[in-house]
Amino acid sequence: MLLVAAPIVGAEEKAALCEVIDSGWLTMGDRVRNFEQAFAKAHGAEDSIAVNSCTAALHLILQALGIGPGDEVLVPALTFVATSNCVLYVGATPVFVDIESTDVPLMSLQDAEARCTARTKAIILVHFGGYLADRSAWQDFARRKGLMLVEDAAHAPGLREAGTFGEAAAFSFYGNKNMTTAEGGAILARDPGLLEAMRQARGHGMTSGTHQRLNSRTPHYDVTMLGFNYRMDELRAAIGLVQLQSLARWNEARRHLVDRYRRLIAERCPAVKVPFTAPRISTHHLMAVLLPAGLERQDVIDHLRKRGIQTTIHYGPVHQLTLYRQLCPGVRLPRTEDFAQRELTLPLHPGMDDGDVDMVVAALADAVVAEIAVGAVA
Ligand SMILES: Cc1ncc(COP(=O)(O)O)c(C=O)c1O
Repeated sequence: MLLVAAPIVGAEEKAALCEVIDSGWLTMGDRVRNFEQAFAKAHGAEDSIAVNSCTAALHLILQALGIGPGDEVLVPALTFVATSNCVLYVGATPVFVDIESTDVPLMSLQDAEARCTARTKAIILVHFGGYLADRSAWQDFARRKGLMLVEDAAHAPGLREAGTFGEAAAFSFYGNKNMTTAEGGAILARDPGLLEAMRQARGHGMTSGTHQRLNSRTPHYDVTMLGFNYRMDELRAAIGLVQLQSLARWNEARRHLVDRYRRLIAERCPAVKVPFTAPRISTHHLMAVLLPAGLERQDVIDHLRKRGIQTTIHYGPVHQLTLYRQLCPGVRLPRTEDFAQRELTLPLHPGMDDGDVDMVVAALADAVVAEIAVGAVA
């Protein structure tokens, strides 16, 4: 089966893991610190915090920014549920915003403006599929409205621009991301003071960690804030240090595959549209396509599956998940809903070659032609 996403891990990661085991120090040691510095450097930042997931990163950011009960946070619904869950974690209210269009499935500034109230405190931007939101437009908007700007950059590791939009950004190293530590995440923040507060909150709010106390005279520590256990361990940091070395090359390989997909889809199945027709900075995390309206998506999924090709959907919109239908009833986001009904995510990862792309497009073209022939399209 050609998978939608596949991590690239091998001998170097294995060797790095063995070194950690041989070292006898398994969590929050030098490797975590080295990884934080290397990740920051890759983004042109001074420092970063490694955590155990992007979800934890988002939670720490909102908590550190003082967002809480009574506050509203603008979020897209075309995202993974973690984006809005973290708003609920701090007791605030997520307010779902529609996408710009099916060609630019990023949060709409116009709709965000319409949904702003006196309670709105922050915006969480998601760089859907790795395609960066418009930084200056969002910065102007945030400044004008007095809002804090947070990036859910789960899809955007390796871009210098990611993490430079607003107060802070959260990255994911989950197994299907552009680089992985199996589970893991990182935070970049503009204000070093905020970054240090989040570093402390990551480890229960303790004033020192086990590794620091090993190197100091005193075994005492204090707890000066409410914290969490969102620590990264040495094994994950060791994998991350290896993966970081290839991230730029892998993102470039993704770009090449996406260029080929775009060209072949336009030639061989023009009824299928590829969003982001205008050039935009991207890590090319997802190969999202839009099927023609009225076409039976499940038939296309089944057809590709029979040909050994996995596909997925990004995303079932968050406002339509049962939990959110109960918590935020009556939300209507017509462009998000249209996009989500027709979207199909094709395989895209640096382990693929041109032949894989050709095979996927051939299968997609056959499936779409077959569906159109049986009159499935309105
Ligand atoms: C847009 C987005 N935000 C947040 C997350 C959560 O990341 P993690 O699994 O590292 O907590 C994901 C993961 O898939 C994601 O795609």
